[in-house]
Amino acid sequence: MTNIAFLGMGAMGTRMATHLLAAKHSLHVWNRTPERCQPLVEQGATAYASPKEAAQAAEVVIAMVADDEASRQVWLGEITGAIYGLKNGAVAVEYSTLTPSWSQELADKMAALNYPFLAAPVVGSRPQAVAGQLIQLVGGDAATLATVHPILESHSGVIHHVGDATASMALKLAINTLFGIQVAALGEILGMLQKAGMSGETAIDWLNQMPTTSPALKGIGTLMAAQNYAPLFPIDLVEKDFRYGQAFAQAMGANVPAAEAVRRIYQQAQQSGYGADNIAGIAQLYC
Ligand SMILES: NC(=O)c1ccc[n+]([C@@H]2O[C@H](COP(=O)([O-])OP(=O)(O)OC[C@H]3O[C@@H](n4cnc5c(N)ncnc54)[C@H](OP(=O)(O)O)[C@@H]3O)[C@@H](O)[C@H]2O)c1
Repeated sequence: MTNIAFLGMGAMGTRMATHLLAAKHSLHVWNRTPERCQPLVEQGATAYASPKEAAQAAEVVIAMVADDEASRQVWLGEITGAIYGLKNGAVAVEYSTLTPSWSQELADKMAALNYPFLAAPVVGSRPQAVAGQLIQLVGGDAATLATVHPILESHSGVIHHVGDATASMALKLAINTLFGIQVAALGEILGMLQKAGMSGETAIDWLNQMPTTSPALKGIGTLMAAQNYAPLFPIDLVEKDFRYGQAFAQAMGANVPAAEAVRRIYQQAQQSGYGADNIAGIAQLYC
């Protein structure tokens, strides 16, 4: 049993932290909006008033929050940041999807203070989090990963050691960009086939039988056909990942015209009021 602090009780954090309780770890939770800790407290976790306080008794401190700004606040926030509560030898792990530059800055900061740190974003959404079948992309020292591997295994079916804190975030953003481009293309193709007189169900049924439709896209097609846009991976987070991916590409001098064009489509979806909908909701622009 390990004392684990989990910072960020959003949609993903809550689901992932539940597995830590099931694995009999002692769980210390914190969330900016305190009420969101309640479901975990009812299952046996202890809630704290700040990241610093949650971190104080923990051997492993995990954060799963929205973006760079939230991550900075949680780890380094004045007075209340988790970094001020970390005890000697505690391992800090960042699960959020962030810019590679901020991820590396945080890794460097932790290294300067002698805290082992991993940047370990996840591939998969709420259903995979519930099933404990996320794919985790870990950046950092292999020996540090070995110490927390059993903890990561409680919510991730596959754990890849990708490289450093920059590499794991760069790969995560690349995966989401590729996924987001495919989903936007599927939305407009579905609209085109519907204009040609095919029902949504028939169009997706055909497309899902073809080798050109990736496994991830098949599930999204089914949601589009059912017009089921209940949030799993919300468009607001998709756009954030495109934004971060584009900034990284720009910093590297990489040319990403398709990603730039598709980001504008997700922005259009946000402007149309679909930001909180699942990524499949991009189809509402066309169907
Ligand atoms: N949803 C997915 O399918 C999915 C899949 C893979 C990875 N991710 C990534 O996982 C992370 C979490 O996603 P999610 O779906 O769990 O999002 P979410 O449900 O919107 O939760 C966001 C969390 O971040 C916290 N937060 C936001 N701004 C903050 C700030 N300034 N200071 C402190 N805390 C702040 C929120 O606190 P409050 O409750 O107070 O708002 C909440 O706990 C994101 O980086 C996302 O890109 C998501």
